[in-house]
Amino acid sequence: YAKAVANASKTPFIATVKQGEGSKSLETLSFLCEQMLTNGFSRGDCVVAVGGGVVGDLANFAASVYMRGIDFYNLPTTVLSAVDSAVGGKSGINFCGVKNILGSFNQPKGVLFDAELLKTLPKRQINAGLAEAIKMALTFDAALFEVFEKQELSEELYEELICRAVLLKADVVQKDEREGGLRKTLNFGHTLGHGIEAAAKGKLLHGECVALGMLPFCSDEVYERLLSVLKKFDLPTRLPCALDEALPFLLHDKKASGDGIDCILVPSAGKFEIKKIRTDDLIAQLKEKEKRFNA
Ligand code: GLY
Repeated sequence: YAKAVANASKTPFIATVKQGEGSKSLETLSFLCEQMLTNGFSRGDCVVAVGGGVVGDLANFAASVYMRGIDFYNLPTTVLSAVDSAVGGKSGINFCGVKNILGSFNQPKGVLFDAELLKTLPKRQINAGLAEAIKMALTFDAALFEVFEKQELSEELYEELICRAVLLKADVVQKDEREGGLRKTLNFGHTLGHGIEAAAKGKLLHGECVALGMLPFCSDEVYERLLSVLKKFDLPTRLPCALDEALPFLLHDKKASGDGIDCILVPSAGKFEIKKIRTDDLIAQLKEKEKRFNA
């Protein structure tokens, strides 16, 4: 895909990075900047990310600091990045063991997702990416959640779900680019999801952990509906580890402050509440809802 993009460009140069989170590092950032410098990149050039979230976050950071910022375009090749990280301009790398601790807000000049990719991406990857679209529907769009529930699975359905979720996310980040308030809702399912991801040690994909992480934060009625949707899209409904193994990670959640963690709750489909819950109380509430992971 990178070659196809290069072939359509005037003076292309391709830099490739290793797959995986390890590439979101100062070393790889330095490699990219060095490649741009030695290949004579100027302010008139641009960076085009062709890949998943790692590539997008890293390439955006390089574009945002090289010569104090050159144009950036994002061409996500996974559903997860198309639905989530490619839209909203967050760039980032990991540093001193802390995820995304260095980065910038730098809006891409354009984001393009080619639905043809749905033909070759593994189904598990597609569905895991779709968990972020379910998140958008549950928090902002009851009608879209009904589409998830009621429409038969087809290629067209996947395209519609991705497209509508991207538009919802674009609307949120336009209203709150720097995460002062509304953008925090995009963390729905992530507080516990990150804990599950860390405890699962690679057994589950990010979106699969977000899917599980949403379950305890819904009202009873929404929980039943979400459970059916997760099953429909082959997303997990049972924890890959004991809940107790995931909970300690909540203490390190980046949304945690002295007096608690900002949690996103969904009382009814398409509606959300942001509520600060003391970490001890949150852990106790999650334990009470443990049976939600045994469906
Ligand atoms: N991935 C969450 C956000 O873009 O804010």
